[in-house]
Amino acid sequence: MRIPRVPGPVAAIALVASVSAALGSVRAPAAPAPVAPRPSPDFVRDVQPILTASCVRCHGPRKTEGELRLDTHAGLLKGGEAGPAVVPGDGEGSRLYQLLVEKDPDKRMPRRKPALSAAQIETVRRWIDAGASWPEGVVVKAPSPPPPPAVAVAPETPGADGPRVSFNKDVRPILADNCYACHGPDRNRRQKDLRLDLEEVATAPLPSHAVAIVPGHPETSALLQRVTDPDEQRRMPHVSSGKPRLTAAQIDTLRRWIAEGARWEPHWSYIRPARPTPPVVKDARWPRNPVDAFVLARIENAGLTPSPEADRRELLRRLSFDLTGLPPAPEEIRAFLADTSPEAYER
Ligand code: HEC
Ligand code: HEC
Repeated sequence: MRIPRVPGPVAAIALVASVSAALGSVRAPAAPAPVAPRPSPDFVRDVQPILTASCVRCHGPRKTEGELRLDTHAGLLKGGEAGPAVVPGDGEGSRLYQLLVEKDPDKRMPRRKPALSAAQIETVRRWIDAGASWPEGVVVKAPSPPPPPAVAVAPETPGADGPRVSFNKDVRPILADNCYACHGPDRNRRQKDLRLDLEEVATAPLPSHAVAIVPGHPETSALLQRVTDPDEQRRMPHVSSGKPRLTAAQIDTLRRWIAEGARWEPHWSYIRPARPTPPVVKDARWPRNPVDAFVLARIENAGLTPSPEADRRELLRRLSFDLTGLPPAPEEIRAFLADTSPEAYER
């Protein structure tokens, strides 16, 4: 039996899978088959979803990397820059398979994404082994962008549902407190290969075939199923964390964020600070600098008006306490009162 050229951790799983595949396809009809022969993968049911999720974005009509199209049967047969992508009947001899198990992450497919799961790679290999059949006329389409979020009609005006959910303000804190311990950067404690701190992992199929976050579709997102699961053993955060279940408000936040398209934001420390436009205020004369406009806007929003400016003696007293913690000396008072220029306060 040939051992597939696959990276370490995957090798064990793939090995087990290929042992059973080998057992399943015993050629000699006389030998009693210890297990029932596994049916070879069905293109539409088993292979097409993999191409849809992981390949046609770069190997389709809009982008055709390596001059290879994987959206049509003709494209697959034509092959790419380097020649045929598949040799029907020989999975391991096919370039397409070899690039899935490639050790060098810079060469592996899908490019710049986590490798396919061992089970998916096996499916592809067995599909090619069985002749790489592709039913007449089937075209693999790239996943459609998430449907416009329900609140898109009025993104600016907070409706009954409230304003758009912010990843950094609303979602990240929930995931960080409750999930990252087991589904975050710490690979030693990571469970089920699931990372909820990386968009590309959280939105891709897991080895279990579940997808944690399906943008626009809370109902098919494993994340939401797990935080609402009535089964104590399956509900997240996992019982072993000792954490209480998420509150209804937290679950609602996650649901709305996914329904709105699950938009990720980089950590705030990586976001370039942008100078916001000062808000429009009713009393345009009051602000002396742009920051004042923000203060006044809040005051006006609350239905209040600013207190009148304190007299000069009072101002100096406050300033002196702010700066030195002491009341102003009599000569400072005299100098300040005598200085009638607009910069007197700054001096
Ligand atoms: C993010 C873009 C991207 C994705 C997604 C992607 N590829 Fe590629 N693929 C490339 C690029 C770029 C090349 C060009 C060759 C190179 O740079 O190594 C390529 C080349 C290939 C080739 C070799 C073509 C040739 O003849 O040179 C095969 C086979 C291939 N990809 C298969 C796949 C499969 C199967 C998937 C899905 C599991 C996939 N790719 C997903 C970008 C991508
Ligand atoms: C103490 C560790 C721990 C914490 C914290 C935790 N999980 Fe998990 N999670 C696990 C374990 C263990 C499994 C695998 C067992 C299972 O499937 O039930 C798992 C499985 C999952 C799966 C299914 C993955 C798959 O491959 O099918 C999802 C989705 C998930 N967790 C989401 C979450 C979310 C969301 C949170 C935070 C609200 C969270 N988890 C918090 C330990 C944890």
